[in-house]
Amino acid sequence: MLTLNTIKDMIQYINKEKRSQRTIGFVPTMGYLHSGHRALIDQSKKDNDITIVSIFVNPLQFNQSSDLEQYPRDFERDAAILKKDGVDVVFHPTADEMYPNQPSIEMNVTKRTDVLCGTSRPGHFEGVVMVLTKLFNIVNPDKVYFGSKDAQQVAVVDALIKDLNFNIKLIPVSTIREADGLALSSRNVHLNPYERDEAAHIYQSLLKGQRYIMDNADWKRNEVINITKSYLSEHTTGKIDYVDCLSFPNLNKDIESKHDIIIAVAVYYEKARLIDNLILDSS
Ligand code: PAJ
Repeated sequence: MLTLNTIKDMIQYINKEKRSQRTIGFVPTMGYLHSGHRALIDQSKKDNDITIVSIFVNPLQFNQSSDLEQYPRDFERDAAILKKDGVDVVFHPTADEMYPNQPSIEMNVTKRTDVLCGTSRPGHFEGVVMVLTKLFNIVNPDKVYFGSKDAQQVAVVDALIKDLNFNIKLIPVSTIREADGLALSSRNVHLNPYERDEAAHIYQSLLKGQRYIMDNADWKRNEVINITKSYLSEHTTGKIDYVDCLSFPNLNKDIESKHDIIIAVAVYYEKARLIDNLILDSS
């Protein structure tokens, strides 16, 4: 496995592989890898000749400096996992390499961000689309892999690719969970044992909402939210940030029968904010 730290080396490598007609799969991450990331890598390896993983904790997408500082990092451990998984290249630039100057261009996400994490983390998705635009230009992949666990991110990346005409196919990958249903997340290490036990109820609350929709042909959006929220508040001491039910991927409150539906939840624990969702297929 190659470790590349500079944009120049990465572009040089990609140009060589493209000349040999190899297809490139790309998995952007912020590291501290777990089986969720590895599911994305696995899918990319199945679909492409070459798999590139980036590890970059993007300062632009953190709206709180304490969250950025506390974000877990362990490159040696990550590199060992990637090597074992048969990844071809890990791109691991410094913040100075990615942002040598304060950028002269800002990106503004005007749709799909007035709900869910878009409201509780102002500027977050602007930071995400900025770094992804740079990474997509550097890596020039055929396919990119994103986890459905961050469903709003998938919705925003879908818009980014379409609006800016990136010639890239977006592949969403299902959420990987612990045995008790807790979605894997790099932030789970910040939960104390009591919170960790409680956090399994996040998934249970989503299942309650889903059950209600499946059992009631004339289900109501507000009722989905009420059912999910009351289960959650009864079973966890964490502070509920939001519970919502929207169309997917447009993230509108008006949900028609042709739309896929997302039920999404965010909960604050003492040192971690956890998110999870379920997407119900319209078909
Ligand atoms: P990060 O949180 O490291 O996640 C990298 C990718 O792994 C994302 O696409 C995320 O949705 C996926 N992922 C995380 N947990 C998962 C799980 N339990 N099951 C399936 N996939 C999971 O998301 C980011 O980094 C950043 O915003 C990034 C896209 C790299 C831009 O900086």
